[in-house]
Amino acid sequence: MTSSVPIKFVKIKRMTLKWEKEFREFYKDCLSPRMIRNPDAAYFAAYCGKLLVGHAALVKENGKYLLEGLRVRPEFREKGIGKELTRLRLSYALEKGAKTVWYRAADKNLVSICCHMKFGFKKVCKPGEKCGIGKVVWYKLNLSDEQSAKKILTAQLR
Ligand SMILES: CC(C)(COP(=O)(O)OP(=O)(O)OC[C@H]1O[C@@H](n2cnc3c(N)ncnc32)[C@H](O)[C@@H]1OP(=O)(O)O)[C@@H](O)C(=O)NCCC(=O)NCCS
Repeated sequence: MTSSVPIKFVKIKRMTLKWEKEFREFYKDCLSPRMIRNPDAAYFAAYCGKLLVGHAALVKENGKYLLEGLRVRPEFREKGIGKELTRLRLSYALEKGAKTVWYRAADKNLVSICCHMKFGFKKVCKPGEKCGIGKVVWYKLNLSDEQSAKKILTAQLR
């Protein structure tokens, strides 16, 4: 999947009112409280000109790094934007010294799961827990080994 339009990726440095307005509009049907002006979150955005076309966050919660809220505007999907927003968040987590990063998804959300599997996330199913159909499942990426880190840093837009 390749991008034919110029997309600019940025880390949100200041939670300005302009950004918050765009952000709330972008997630209006699925805004998780963990995402709202969270001082323990790092936010990443993709813009096509002035239009917000993709957004995602890395949230630190109880010492755990979580990937949250990956979304790409439908008409901009399949151009590598989701993957790049994920790569940026994982690189940032590495910079912050994270040893593992967590992500969760409904098992039916195959596109999102595929997007994360590319980086080496593995399903975590506790003993006795049902991780099958209809469930929300946790995935974990181990960043402490060199291979995973290399995979992240070399996963480029294609
Ligand atoms: C999941 C999502 C973020 C993927 O974004 P995207 O920019 O289209 O993804 P990418 O183009 O970067 O693709 C990444 C990987 O996902 C997989 N993928 C993406 N679209 C796919 C499709 N239609 N079918 C199968 N796999 C697909 C592929 O594995 C792809 O990797 P590849 O290009 O190396 O083959 C996007 O589909 C989305 O926003 N879905 C809705 C999510 C949502 O609403 N979340 C709610 C948050 S509150």
